[in-house]
Amino acid sequence: MEATEFKIPATSANLGPGFDSIGLALEKFLYIKAEKNDRWEMKFERESLEVLPSDETNLCIRTAMNIAGEYHKTLPKLKITMDSEIPLTHGMGSSASAIVAGIELADQFCGLHLSEYEKVQRASEIEGHPDNVGPAVTGGFFVGYYKNGELFYYSHDLKGLAAIVSIPGYEIDTKAARAALPQSYIKQDAVDQNAVTNVLLMAMINQDYNTMGQLMMKDSFHEPYRRYLIHEYDEVKAVSLNHGAHATVISGAGPTLLTLCDTNDAALIVDALSVIPDCVHEVIDIHTKR
Ligand code: HSE
Repeated sequence: MEATEFKIPATSANLGPGFDSIGLALEKFLYIKAEKNDRWEMKFERESLEVLPSDETNLCIRTAMNIAGEYHKTLPKLKITMDSEIPLTHGMGSSASAIVAGIELADQFCGLHLSEYEKVQRASEIEGHPDNVGPAVTGGFFVGYYKNGELFYYSHDLKGLAAIVSIPGYEIDTKAARAALPQSYIKQDAVDQNAVTNVLLMAMINQDYNTMGQLMMKDSFHEPYRRYLIHEYDEVKAVSLNHGAHATVISGAGPTLLTLCDTNDAALIVDALSVIPDCVHEVIDIHTKR
């Protein structure tokens, strides 16, 4: 392999009660071009990416080197050109896309022939939460369990739905958003939440988006604690639901809000959302299963 070119989709993790286990791939991408070089070089094609390190401490390069090392291979020095439509630190999987891109680089330049399962497993190990990285590998909506190297997952398509992202100007660090959560949950609340998520998955698979939407908004693991970090939470949710959306939830650790609606309603809803200031509201297609 002398050179390669590929793209990795954005992701929206949690989808309400699927905290740390359910995620969705979206049609916004990290674009990578890479070729063998006599030294490491990283070129960013977008000004907003210039805050990222361009040396071996860059998450994408670091991941590629670590993965190569795990398989006892040496990654050749590369010239990497990176562009990304995924806003950094906004809950749309920008770090996840860099990790998955690093795995892809190691796979291609070291001839590892990793399976989809191995890519999801390695990415979950590095990121810690499969909901963020899994959909970037599989596409579609992803449901995964990862603990101590053990991984189970499924991916599926959500036909007929569109996503609207409402992206505030400020950032929320994932560590801070996790610190806002309690250390433990009350047993009955956890039991109830388990039931909500189980039915939610059946509703998604059966394309019963009305039921899906109601259950997505019954999270008690993270939304009740994180919603106060997002000033636009109440207004975006109210406007979206009033205009026919199925659900509005926090995308990943926020601050982006994810609204799911029927494809035919997306233009009307995004138009209604446009009155909410200091936020970019955008319709995005769901990236289908690979
Ligand atoms: N499930 C994770 C969270 C996604 O909400 O913290 C971000 O890594």
